[in-house]
Amino acid sequence: MATAAKRVGILTAGGDAPGLNAVIRGFGKTAISHYGMELIGFRDGIQGLVENRFMELTPAALSGILTTGGTILGTSRDKVNKYVVNGETRNMIGQVKENLEALKIDALVMLGGGGTVKNAKQLCDAGINVISLPKTIDNDIYGTDTSFGFATALDIATQAIDRLHSTAHSHHRIILAEVMGHRAGWLGLGAGIAGGADIILIPEIPYTVESVTATIKTRISHGSTFSVIAVAEGARNVKDTADMNAAELLVDTAKTPESLRAAKTHLAHVVDSQREHTFKLARELEASTGLETRVTILGYVQRGGTPCAEDRLLATRFGTTAADLVNKGEFGVLLAARGQDTVPVPLEDVAGKLKLVPTDHDWIETARKVGTGLGE
Ligand code: F6P
Repeated sequence: MATAAKRVGILTAGGDAPGLNAVIRGFGKTAISHYGMELIGFRDGIQGLVENRFMELTPAALSGILTTGGTILGTSRDKVNKYVVNGETRNMIGQVKENLEALKIDALVMLGGGGTVKNAKQLCDAGINVISLPKTIDNDIYGTDTSFGFATALDIATQAIDRLHSTAHSHHRIILAEVMGHRAGWLGLGAGIAGGADIILIPEIPYTVESVTATIKTRISHGSTFSVIAVAEGARNVKDTADMNAAELLVDTAKTPESLRAAKTHLAHVVDSQREHTFKLARELEASTGLETRVTILGYVQRGGTPCAEDRLLATRFGTTAADLVNKGEFGVLLAARGQDTVPVPLEDVAGKLKLVPTDHDWIETARKVGTGLGE
């Protein structure tokens, strides 16, 4: 077993999410006051690690941040092994090792989503003592039941859908509420169910405009001349889903540099052609139902601001448990929530994997049972 770490680095990477500061605080208070460690925070995620930009995290710096949104350290979306400097892509793992050695850092705690888990695995493979903590409003990190940020975003998206009901009802309109979630439908599905959306569209269930139209027309025939649709940002119709899958397969199976370049160009074209798909769907529904249709993109309000109580609890639990792990010398893991337990999972078991909504998931069955259309 490794010796107990005394000087620890922490960073936040990827999109910000409510609860990042609560984790920094939970980790820092336990590490400093309980275990007598020293803590430094790298600024702006991987950028700070590479460029050696950091701040000392003293008890004073950790005070008053439990409830604050964003991250006191700043964040970025860089990849440590494909780091872009002046338009050139470089592997910066050697540089990071040098910086950590010069700073006498014994362990690194990395708060982030799927991309950060991959970065953590790269650093772990290079011999750095790493622990990754699951942050994302998307809830798509493989190996953990949930991630901090998700509960808050779910509350915000649910409130938004609640509010859209009365305006859709008053104007006899269709309103599409586009919810974040990247390629996973957790946030759209959860907020759609909790907010009582009439239709929920998620990436895991490609939709047809005909099915969505049929649900709206049935509602009209029952006297409901309005509909609220929760659209996960990754949701696509059947054709667009097939086009995207085929384009991605071409990239994954390209055998030569030329074919890879061509496949990437094709994929970029497909991605581009599917931009603003929620607006396209709105136009299609307006034409097919005769109801005036509007789009509300919930966007960054879902991940800004103060974390809800559930996320504060989860974040504090993750932070304190991570400090225990550092003290024990247990590294190379993602800290995962499993029910009420917080368990270390080897990075090699989770890196590069995505947690999508299983199509037999209880939430999907729940939505169907209350009569919510899923566009199938
Ligand atoms: O991963 C969190 C998330 O908010 C996704 O839901 C969304 O697709 C993405 O980040 C937006 O990324 P950016 O901050 O780069 O616009």
